[in-house]
Amino acid sequence: MKKNENSRSSFSGKLGYVLAVAGSAVGLGNIWRFPYLAAKYGGGIFLLTYLILMLTFGYALIVSETALGRMTKRSPVGAFRSFGKSAPFRFGGWINAVIPMLIVPYYSVIGGWVVKYLFEYLRQNTAALAKDGYFDSFIANSSETELWFLLFCLMVIAVLFAGVKQGVERVSKIMMPLLVLLAVFVAAYSVTRPGALEGVAYFLIPNFKNFSWMTVVAAMGQMFYSLSIAMGILYTYGSYIKKDVDIEKSTQQVEIFDTAIAMLAGLMIIPAVFAFSGGDAATLKAGPSLMFITIPKVFASMDFGTGAGILFFLLVLLAALTSAISLAESGVSTFEDQLGWSRAKSTLLMGAVILLFGSASALGFGVLDFVRILGMSVLDFFDFLTNSLMMPVAALSTCFLVTRVAGLDRIIREVEQSSAFRRKKMYCFFMKYLAPICIVVILLSSIASVLGWITL
Ligand code: PFF
Repeated sequence: MKKNENSRSSFSGKLGYVLAVAGSAVGLGNIWRFPYLAAKYGGGIFLLTYLILMLTFGYALIVSETALGRMTKRSPVGAFRSFGKSAPFRFGGWINAVIPMLIVPYYSVIGGWVVKYLFEYLRQNTAALAKDGYFDSFIANSSETELWFLLFCLMVIAVLFAGVKQGVERVSKIMMPLLVLLAVFVAAYSVTRPGALEGVAYFLIPNFKNFSWMTVVAAMGQMFYSLSIAMGILYTYGSYIKKDVDIEKSTQQVEIFDTAIAMLAGLMIIPAVFAFSGGDAATLKAGPSLMFITIPKVFASMDFGTGAGILFFLLVLLAALTSAISLAESGVSTFEDQLGWSRAKSTLLMGAVILLFGSASALGFGVLDFVRILGMSVLDFFDFLTNSLMMPVAALSTCFLVTRVAGLDRIIREVEQSSAFRRKKMYCFFMKYLAPICIVVILLSSIASVLGWITL
């Protein structure tokens, strides 16, 4: 234990830690996923539901995972094992540890698409990107998607080799402030387009007529995704911090940062859609393609569309990179801890996993198009498997560990080592009742959707 503690990577201070966690949280989930879900599931009412869940359920889980990581100084497998050696503990640890290893490959494929779009905007191919069918024919071109995927992976792996302080922390410190500046700039541009204000109102003002059960389920799933909960990352990052980091305060800062970027992304995309299409229902419900199909059309129709396209995709790339790095970092740390391997060797293994599963996802719309798992493409399958099935189970195991094994008292004591735990009572209520109920709801809804009973 002693040796491992001394040799363990760590963050240099509070700011480095908060920026690294924010870098992990702010990603494609905020800029690509949040706006299309908000557009689809009711605008302001989706936003309100999301905010409530994030401040309650999300907050409790972040505090728990970070405290468990700091308490045990281990990434998830070791953290669970330090409480018991039987099968449920091994399962709880490994499910948290495996999730980021399965996410980062397909996430890097989407990262590759972002690099491609940025490259095309830099070449001023603004009109071509807006043509009908451009995106579909691009993802069907296997050699091209593989190439862009590899480029994105190279960037991620290079940072990982550099380590926590030199790599993860340094990159986050530069990229995060830059990202905020770019987001404010692009959002300001978008909301000042003629006709855009209607979109601002749709996004910000709750309208209860738009509320449905799906609003809650979608907001809950998005909260997991966006805050990087239930995927071992927060255990791992928690294990790198010292006792002087105020867990409650840093959780709050990360939540504010993550939500601010998601809201800015909403303000970039939804008003632009209104300015462009008058907010017709079909465009608002475009789903995942909103960023790659609808937004290029919006940019092509605008003055200075190429400049807006460059800024926008640069922003998305920065966000995607810091998140992919954190997902992969979690995997590397698990290999280091569990296999006793050096950082370099563990990074190589993580790189191999990314290449293998990522290539299958990248080629899944081209030469591997015939492969369907539960009726889904390889990429969609990995997304569904991790977000809809594994993450709720992982979160449930954390709830179990906190409430039944470690005990809420120990978590509270861990948090109180660095500050007063102001929302202690709320925290206990959320962990005991709210979180398990919410998790079971997501899990059942996901299973119902794969059986075709409901449409997510
Ligand atoms: N939280 C990050 C994002 O919103 O993009 C990273 C991430 C976490 C991506 C979990 C995907 C995922 F399933």
